[in-house]
Order: sequence, then structure tokens, then C-alpha cells
Amino acid sequence: MTKMTVRDVDVAGKRVLVRVDFNVPQDIKTGEITDDSRIRASLPTINYLIERGARVILISHLGRPDGKVVDEFRLTGVAQRLSQILGQQVGVATDCIGPEVEKSVAALNNGHVLLLENLRFHPDEETGSLIFAKALARLGDIFVNDAFGTSHRAHASISGIAKFLPAVAGFLLEKEITFLGHVLENPARPFAALIGGAKISDKVKMLDRMSTKVDYLLVGGGMAATFFKAQGYEIGKSKFEGDRIDAANGLLKKATQNGFKLLLPVDVMVADAIDAGARTMIVPVNSIPVDKMIVDIGPQTTGIFSATLQNCRTVFWNGPMGVYELQPFAGGTQALARQLAGLQATTIIGGGSTAEVVQGMNLADKMTFVSTGGGASLSFVSGEKLPGVEALMDKK
Ligand code: 3PG
Ligand code: MG
Repeated sequence: MTKMTVRDVDVAGKRVLVRVDFNVPQDIKTGEITDDSRIRASLPTINYLIERGARVILISHLGRPDGKVVDEFRLTGVAQRLSQILGQQVGVATDCIGPEVEKSVAALNNGHVLLLENLRFHPDEETGSLIFAKALARLGDIFVNDAFGTSHRAHASISGIAKFLPAVAGFLLEKEITFLGHVLENPARPFAALIGGAKISDKVKMLDRMSTKVDYLLVGGGMAATFFKAQGYEIGKSKFEGDRIDAANGLLKKATQNGFKLLLPVDVMVADAIDAGARTMIVPVNSIPVDKMIVDIGPQTTGIFSATLQNCRTVFWNGPMGVYELQPFAGGTQALARQLAGLQATTIIGGGSTAEVVQGMNLADKMTFVSTGGGASLSFVSGEKLPGVEALMDKK
């Protein structure tokens, strides 16, 4: 990475303001944190700072409270979980800026950790206000960005603070950029990208970029319907994107010209409705009944995709193969997750719902790398510059 990291600055006794992404999923009813991977992923940076006697001030958002104080998005539960994991009491401030918070920061001892309240309780965070960024910057001597998952946002706490403090990358940010960058720049071949999810429109840029890098592009999920439409198949009641048929055709054409193989499903599971109790059947893609919709890839497709991945030395996966939230339609996604977990290959999992699947199946430690960023990893592999990375100091 060309950016300076926390290793390049002296942190002992300093107030180190660390932007983390503690935007963790919570149970809607109980508020219980259902997956703490993002908290755990920030530990290397936090522990490093504690060990070196820094005064650690953590800042994060949680959810989308829209610039207002919303109790269910308070960071108290996160502080509790972090305290348990660290084995050290982590205090929570009542806000993230202002004289009270400045007092709490001033009282912080070397090697201790304070978590400030949700940044998004202030509307100025998301607008990227430099006044707000400056108020945050007053709290620290050094700024560390370890919030890879939010680094595609030009928010005050992501790119703004870097205008007022020496700004370096944390270990998680460094790891994300290194793994995701490596897969695109220097993959061991054959290299396959397995791409799914509901819409092509979300992923056009990534598909385009991947198509110049991969040996195999495997496409499943809702977006496959638009490809079928482009090929002239009946897709029944499946959703497709009429304005993306050209994009699908473009990729089909590129596959023949650029010499990579584009694999689409050959069979699919269809259902009467998106409902776990709906009747389902498996059909070839050229025989989708008019009154049914695609909900998963079929077993023959799973077999072909698995066999292709089996020969690959690098696999990047982003997006489920079907409506995986409903168990009867999760078969294709889960079968391929297990397949990836068993490969003797570099396996890189995009964040968001793909990471959720892998975490939910307890397969994360069987993969080479699982990104903590959904939108951020998508942006990064699409070739976009991330504001949170750009803002950091360059290595000399
Ligand atoms: C995420 O989970 O996508 C990140 O924490 C960023 O959150 P946002 O999508 O609400 O900006
Ligand atoms: Mg997001």
C-alpha cells in the first residue's frame, strides 16, 4: 500500500482518534449484536495502540439515524461487546463532539480506550462538513482510518478529519486494500469471479473491470435474468432490468473477444412467489414457465460452477446465487460457499450479503479473506478511488 500506516507514526502517549466501522447487525427486537466480526476485525489496530500506550479514542457510526439521536442506534451495546473482547472496560461518551467529550478525552489514561457516541446523530457527518470534522479533530493528535467498510463515503469522519490531523491507515484498512488489490493485480491463474445478487445495475462497473482480469466469469443470482432476456429466453415473472440488456449483451460479446469464459446458469429453480412455502421446480433456462419466477440456480449449474472453481487458483465471490434469505432458495448459494471453503486456492469474499452468508455458515475462517466492506469492496474492485483512502498521507 502506498499510504502511511499506524506503524509509521509515534503513538505513545498521544491521543489517537481511530475511525472504525462498528456498524454491526443487531437483532431488531432485542438490539443484541448478531455478528461482531467488524468489532473483532478492528482489534489488531486497537491492541497495537493499547500496547504502545496511546490514548485510544474510537469513533463510528451505527445504522442510518439520519442526523438525529435514535436510541436503538446508540453505541452502548457495542462498547459492552468490545469491553468483553478486549478484557478492558471501554467507556462511552454521551456525544462525539463538544466540551463534555473533550473533558472525557482529557481524562483518558495511556493505554485506555474511549468510544464516542454515534457520529450519524449529527447531520454534519454525512454531508462531510469541515466544521464538524474540525470539532472531531480537536479530540486527537493523530487520525487513524480503520473503517474500510465506510471508506467509500466522503463523510466528515472519513475524509474530513484528515485535513486537520496527520492521517494514517489502520491494520484492517491496510489488509483490505492489500487483499482486494492483490486479487486484481496479481491473481494466480486460473482466476474466476463468481458474481450474483439482484441487479446488474449495482455491479456493472465491477463486471466490466472483472471481465478484463478473469479467466472465468460465473454469473448467478437475480441478475442472470437480464442475461437470459438478452439471449431471448422467456423468464416468466422474474425481475429483469430492461435498461441493462445492452450491458448484458456487451459482456456476452466481450467474453468471445477478450478470451475469458462467461458462464451463465443452465438450469434454475423457479417458484410461484418469493415465499418460503411456495411450490418450486427445477427447469432448464430455455423452459422457464411464464407464471413462475427464478429463485435460485439449479443443481446442474451448481455442478458446472463447482467443477470450474475446482480448477481455479484464485476465486473472488460477490453476491448470492438466489434468494438466499429464504432457506428453500438458499441451496445454490450455500453449496458454492461450501465449495469455496474446500478449495486449495486463494478465496476472496466481498463484504455485505456475501460475507453474511459465509459468516452465517461458519465458513469465514476457511476462506483466505472475507472483506468487512460491502459497498466499499464493490467500489474498490470496480476501480473507484475511495475517499477514506485517498485522504491519508502517502508513504515517503
Ligand atoms: C456499511 O455497512 O455499508 C457501512 O458501514 C457503511 O454504511 P452505510 O452504507 O449506511 O453508509
Ligand atoms: Mg452500505
